[in-house]
Amino acid sequence: MTNRFAVVLAAGQGTRMKSKLYKVLHPVCGKPMVEHVIDQVSKLNINKAVTIIGHGAEAVESQLKGKSSFALQEEQLGTGHAVMQAEELIGSEDGTTIVVCGDTPLITAKTMEDLLQHHIDQEAKATILTAYAENPFGYGRVIRSSEGNVERIVEQKDASADEQKVKEINTGVFCFDNKHLFQALKEVSNDNAQGEYYLPDVISILVAKGETVSAFQTDDIDETLGVNDRIALSQAEKIMKERINMDHMRNGVTIIDPANTYIEQSVTIGRDTIIYPGTMLTGETAVGEDCIIGPHSELKDCAVGNNTVIRQSVAHNSSIGNKVNIGPFAHIRPQSDIADEVKIGNFVEIKKASFGKGSKASHLSYIGDAEVGSDVNIGCGTITVNYDGKNKFLTKIEDGVFVGCNSNLVAPVKIGKNAYIAAGSTITEDVPEEALSIARARQVNKEDYVKKLKHNQ
Ligand code: UD1
Ligand code: CA
Repeated sequence: MTNRFAVVLAAGQGTRMKSKLYKVLHPVCGKPMVEHVIDQVSKLNINKAVTIIGHGAEAVESQLKGKSSFALQEEQLGTGHAVMQAEELIGSEDGTTIVVCGDTPLITAKTMEDLLQHHIDQEAKATILTAYAENPFGYGRVIRSSEGNVERIVEQKDASADEQKVKEINTGVFCFDNKHLFQALKEVSNDNAQGEYYLPDVISILVAKGETVSAFQTDDIDETLGVNDRIALSQAEKIMKERINMDHMRNGVTIIDPANTYIEQSVTIGRDTIIYPGTMLTGETAVGEDCIIGPHSELKDCAVGNNTVIRQSVAHNSSIGNKVNIGPFAHIRPQSDIADEVKIGNFVEIKKASFGKGSKASHLSYIGDAEVGSDVNIGCGTITVNYDGKNKFLTKIEDGVFVGCNSNLVAPVKIGKNAYIAAGSTITEDVPEEALSIARARQVNKEDYVKKLKHNQ
């Protein structure tokens, strides 16, 4: 097979985004646009991929480290000028080069592979990926001769009224014979409305030389969406979200309302899990089989086992076992480790705490910086008092402990195996195994005291 190269254009600032964040780093379903592009390009058996960086070069490079080589475009003088920056890395090679814009996050490897195949079949020196757009505004238009041959591409800002009516657009994805590409780029001028060196001008240059130039039209206009502003960003998000949700449904996950379910690309979900509306699954979240997630739950970077139910709750960066029942309205904060068959109920906040098998905190508690054994029952309103204003301390609750309602466990403190804590206790000292600990003022009943008060009035 001939050599294959890829050039991804990612040096522009993206003025129309009106953002501090460089355009190609804006995430779509949790992953920066340009990374979507690189990940698809990586599936194409590429010898070398070069990303052109400029604005936010360091940030883009560190985001894509290991996935691409880089060439710096110090001044952004146009897409043609951008590609030229790859000359040092690949200019002398024989082969086919695919050029993609870093702001087309929906493009797929399949479409690029079809384009490459068409390019090879046609023995072309350049092939444009085009699409038919109902509303072509803003895109370069593909101008064909009366015989239907591609002649050139004209940008929106340079197009005549007649040319603006053309609905076949340049998607910004091209295949070139590598050497012809770099040769033709030398002839591109910046004599146009934007004063830029346009990559699409390579097309008319090659046509003028009598080289074969072809176009491959995709019927999936969605894939070619170029994200220049936040409106297009939201459209890309919507389409990508649909794709991700459909993949999960095809794999055996029930999603009750896909339009209101937000799952990032990195997330995995097992079969027969049901996702209710308003749910967000993000980051490195992995949900097992036969779970019920939602409605209105947010899991970020969580590992969840099988047969677990998480309703109206938030969990971040934690591990949650099998047959666990969480919510409604629980908050699992980072570094929590919840074993099988645990119950974390209404208005319970967990932080950096481990829970052993079968333990329960069913209502209104804060359990932070704690190690909770198995089969522990934490009564309603229990609080681990973990912070003295300066440092955090650990609460250890061993297996089988029963903590009565409304207890304060003032850390550092250890409650020994099978011990009982009487309701309303403020525990400041360790409790031995099998003990009952009561730490509250003894109740005093003053008989007929109310009558005395009334008498004195
Ligand atoms: C470009 C095409 C247009 C096409 C559209 C498809 C040109 C001149 N126009 O227009 O025909 O229909 O994409 O989405 O190519 N970039 C650089 N360096 C630069 C300029 C741009 O790296 O000097 C990068 C940008 O970061 C971006 C990509 O190239 O990722 C495209 O640039 P953009 O300014 O968005 O071009 P469009 O106006 O969308
Ligand atoms: Ca663009």
